Amino acid sequence: MMNKLEVFSSLGLKVDPFHKASFTTGDSLRVLRILTMAVESRAMVSIVGERGCGKTEAVKAALKKLGVTTIHAKREDQEKLTIADIKTALILELSNENVKRGGVVSSMQLRRIVGEASRKQKIVVVIEEAQRLHSATLRSLKSMREIEWLSEDELFTILLVAQSDPMNRAGVSEVRLRSDCVHMQGLTDAEAAGYVRSTVGRYFDDASLEALSDLPQAKNFLELQELLVALLYHALTAGREVVSEQDVREVACRESAPLPRSGKAKPQSQPVSSGDALKSVLAKRAATNTVTSLSDHRSVSGAEL
Ligand SMILES: Nc1ncnc2c1ncn2[C@@H]1O[C@H](COP(=O)(O)OP(=O)(O)O)[C@@H](O)[C@H]1O
Ligand SMILES: [Mg+2]
Repeated sequence: MMNKLEVFSSLGLKVDPFHKASFTTGDSLRVLRILTMAVESRAMVSIVGERGCGKTEAVKAALKKLGVTTIHAKREDQEKLTIADIKTALILELSNENVKRGGVVSSMQLRRIVGEASRKQKIVVVIEEAQRLHSATLRSLKSMREIEWLSEDELFTILLVAQSDPMNRAGVSEVRLRSDCVHMQGLTDAEAAGYVRSTVGRYFDDASLEALSDLPQAKNFLELQELLVALLYHALTAGREVVSEQDVREVACRESAPLPRSGKAKPQSQPVSSGDALKSVLAKRAATNTVTSLSDHRSVSGAEL
């Protein structure tokens, strides 16, 4: 199996067609809508969805469009992100000052810097991998916003980006009540097909596009990309540059049902694999296609009569 870039270069491409592609989806529009409101009201919002569904891209596009000042609070291991790290990030990003520490970050310094900055710009603190934040950090975030400013308003927006709802755990009910959560839905069939068309569309015929956009992997950008590369590779090894519906069947079935070669029985307690879902989708599609072609045939012969 070639890797992604090898497949692309075998097709004569000079750049990765997925890189820097920016595609509008229902999810990305919803993220923009919610963030617009969140920024206006200096709210605390979580954007939740599985890895690869497009959270980071949607958030980046929305924040760019909103023209806000974005501060990323991160550590190599987000479990260890503390409220002091978040305060430090605010101070360093919004001023040229050094962080004054007397054991803790000086709240006076923080209040002055964020207070002044927030009059000139809209500030959004983005915390990625927020499902890994310590619940104590979440609680401190809330109190930092409430106590630290002594002002009538919150001074900035907090955006938590997470693979699962960061508020869905013990010890953060106070924070949960004061924040909203947006769940990403994933790509619809039509969006998946549109995304493929706008990136590697010329290597896929219409029937293959329709077949693959139905697959469960097509809901997630990263998984869809992986599938597309596998399909391109499959076609290339057959000496073709255009992926057919048959390729989609073969690759989807192969990936979903790896046959045990040793002849040993499968373990009994296997969870329902996505493979079964794939097979049923493909079977359904095959059935639909039969009906379509039958009725096509009938209308043709009707015209001939
Ligand atoms: N709206 C989009 N338009 C085009 N490509 C996208 C879009 N969203 C995601 N992608 C692609 O999917 C990949 C994973 O998206 P990302 O936003 O990093 O997912 P997440 O943050 O949910 O794990 C990106 O690197 C990009 O190639
Ligand atoms: Mg991400």
